[in-house]
Amino acid sequence: MAAIEAISLTKKFGDLVAVNNLSFSVEEGSIFGLLGPNGAGKTTTLRMIYGVLKPTSGTARVLGVDVVHNPTKAKSLMGVLPEETGLYPRLTAEENLIYFGKLRGMEDWRLRKRVAELLELLNLTDKKYVIADKLSRGQRQKVAFARAILDEPPVLLLDEPTLGVDVMSAREIRKMIEEYATTGKTVVLSTHNMWDVERLCDYIGIISEGKLRYLGKKEDLEKLIGEKEFEDVFVRLVKGDVVES
Ligand SMILES: Nc1ncnc2c1ncn2[C@@H]1O[C@H](COP(=O)(O)OP(=O)(O)OP(=O)(O)O)[C@@H](O)[C@H]1O
Ligand SMILES: [Mg+2]
Repeated sequence: MAAIEAISLTKKFGDLVAVNNLSFSVEEGSIFGLLGPNGAGKTTTLRMIYGVLKPTSGTARVLGVDVVHNPTKAKSLMGVLPEETGLYPRLTAEENLIYFGKLRGMEDWRLRKRVAELLELLNLTDKKYVIADKLSRGQRQKVAFARAILDEPPVLLLDEPTLGVDVMSAREIRKMIEEYATTGKTVVLSTHNMWDVERLCDYIGIISEGKLRYLGKKEDLEKLIGEKEFEDVFVRLVKGDVVES
């Protein structure tokens, strides 16, 4: 079964078609990267899948569960890192995680163990008593990433997981994402970072102006690129040019 299926997802804001009839499916156990320039529709696509934005038309299924018709069940299957981290500003890093874990019904001992472990892995242990409001952008991003993977949901949706994070932490986050997928879980991430795509993703969707310009395996895109620079090919795909191998 596909872990995620986007079925003709469309979102209009007034006259603007932010996401235009997007369809793709993501195999269980793989990492799918949604790549595209600012304003392409990446965040809007993810928000429709994780259920905070209702599609104008179309829908998505998460492990077979329709996100429009069965949002509560669908949400329970997903861990989410939103674009604006969505932490409670007055709660500490640790409290944010504990609170979320309780909402998700985690057992107390498992929750505390997991929070301590993630704070350590992400080099945040000395910040655990600092309120989210007083954390740096990158530190907040790391806490929000920890929250997304806290109860190890089968599907992760990550909106620019390494944005604003230092080199060491970005490496740790990439490693954690990779390990996540090797256990049969599925990751969908958005990025403008070609390095993330190159290092992490099995499948790539390139999107611009709400339209899907390329969909396929990373190896196939690499073949298409051949001797050419990834950046050049990316720019042409974004403009809607057909790129010959
Ligand atoms: N709530 C909203 N109301 C009106 N327009 C919106 C809203 N959210 C997004 N848009 C518009 O939809 C388009 C797609 O935005 P989106 O945030 O999905 O892009 P993105 O690919 O995530 O960009 P970025 O790389 O900058 O994060 C943009 O033109 C944006 O201005
Ligand atoms: Mg975005």
